[in-house]
Amino acid sequence: MPIREIATKPYLDQKFGTAGLRKKVVIFQQPHYLENLLQSVFDCVPDLKGQTLVIGGDGRYHNREAIQTAIAMAAANGVARVIVGQGGIVSTPATSHLIRLKGAAGGFVFSASHNPAGPDGDFGVKFNIANGGQAGETVTDAIYARTKEVSAYRIADGGHIDLDRRGISQIDGMQVEVIDGVADYAALMQELFDFPKMRDWLKRGGRVVFDAMHAVTGPYAQRIFVDLLGAPPSSLLNATPLADFGGGHPDPNLIYASHLVDLANGEDAPDLLAASDGDGDRNMILGRRQFISPGDSLAMLAAHLHLLPGYREGVRGIARSMPTCRAADVVAASLGIPCYETPTGWKFFCNLLDANRITLCGEESFGTGSTHVREKDGLWAVLAWMNVLAATGLSVQALAQAHWRRHGRHYYCRHDYDELPTADAQAVMAGLKAQFPDLPGRRFGNWQVSLADEFGYDDPIDGSHASAQGLRVVFGEAARLIVRLSGTGTKGATLRVYFERYETAESELGHDSNAALAPLVVIAEQLLRLQELTGRKGPDVVT
Ligand code: G6P
Ligand code: ZN
Repeated sequence: MPIREIATKPYLDQKFGTAGLRKKVVIFQQPHYLENLLQSVFDCVPDLKGQTLVIGGDGRYHNREAIQTAIAMAAANGVARVIVGQGGIVSTPATSHLIRLKGAAGGFVFSASHNPAGPDGDFGVKFNIANGGQAGETVTDAIYARTKEVSAYRIADGGHIDLDRRGISQIDGMQVEVIDGVADYAALMQELFDFPKMRDWLKRGGRVVFDAMHAVTGPYAQRIFVDLLGAPPSSLLNATPLADFGGGHPDPNLIYASHLVDLANGEDAPDLLAASDGDGDRNMILGRRQFISPGDSLAMLAAHLHLLPGYREGVRGIARSMPTCRAADVVAASLGIPCYETPTGWKFFCNLLDANRITLCGEESFGTGSTHVREKDGLWAVLAWMNVLAATGLSVQALAQAHWRRHGRHYYCRHDYDELPTADAQAVMAGLKAQFPDLPGRRFGNWQVSLADEFGYDDPIDGSHASAQGLRVVFGEAARLIVRLSGTGTKGATLRVYFERYETAESELGHDSNAALAPLVVIAEQLLRLQELTGRKGPDVVT
């Protein structure tokens, strides 16, 4: 098959965000758009030559075309072997696992995570390196620089792989292996968790409901919950991946998975309710009449992790992103282990995981994970919770209440303002920043500002520095108010405001979250002047 070198002109907007490059499908459908990006990766990562490349995807619209392009370009760029999931389906965490398991030099995940899919939706590309984690900023900056000057790309002509049939074929001397994208991941989960105990828990009446939201985790959930653990098929909702995610928004949070909240609060609710997102890395956990915030989930898992077979040695350290509530810090202190605070973005955890400094990490954006891969892992979190329930015999609610009595409770919520004009969003940020010199020591109700700064991070492993990672107003241990601009939006700017309040007195543990956070919302209005600067009356998403 001839290899062609095709002349192209650079696009100037191919800069990776918090998690890869995400754009509208129509942007990716522009002539040579994807090819330019992939060629820039091949140019900047010469290690891919002669090595294995894993290709995963969340099954969304344009996934199959993108995979065929990537395979043909890998062949033309000297990759020795491509491993791709049957049907083009491999979740983000399963891709990370495959890269590590197969000793691959890297991998692509074609996904825009939870962003809506379909011809009018979003598409995305993430590039992961040999440790299974997303490429860090040094690599993505180099790729971005390359995209601005790329003038030709290489592609093997006419190669087409039948993605639905497992097996091995060749394109131009490159081996292409279409594998079951679920099997290796399911095997890993069986090493980490006590499947016999969970099976028994289900047999004794434990009930789980998992919503795959018509995205990538459907086949994984079918294999793990139904085939391996013996849960009834009715435990799974929306388990068939669809190219448009059924028209939905597969983002497991209180807004987009509100039907699970209704189910949890209804008559005869199951013991554990959970959902994952488009590419399978996020999770939402609920029990009967109990939502577990992602920050609480991280803290509660940290407190119980030693009960799970894969983690019998206990937790070495924990990491959370800066806007994530400080519940994990309290558990870390009680365990006498470090808790690291990193910028938003899973890639910042990877050095800590590689250096064995932490066992567990998580983010407020419904991400939780551990040393087992280098991405956050939705199903892993659900299984970890199920294993904890089976091991302790407690309900989600009883477990949460016991946790709060022992460690105190962090009330938490996030307000998003979507699709703001960038200038407006920046005005809000600048307006808060300008007040920083006057804030320390100032009182707002019962709270006094102990720190007001712009967060920056010095990576303790490689010494790299990340600046401008969000603004924070800290009221000692009692509360925090954080503001930052999202790095994952595809339209305008998304401003995120995070509210955290900590209470330890028994009488203060049972409030409704929104009520508990209302005084902080008032302070935020005063400090941010959002309505005045953006014209918005309220947030688009509260979660
Ligand atoms: C993705 C990333 C996470 C990040 C989240 C929100 O899911 O993998 O690491 O926390 O997006 O990022 P954003 O910049 O939009 O707040
Ligand atoms: Zn995701």
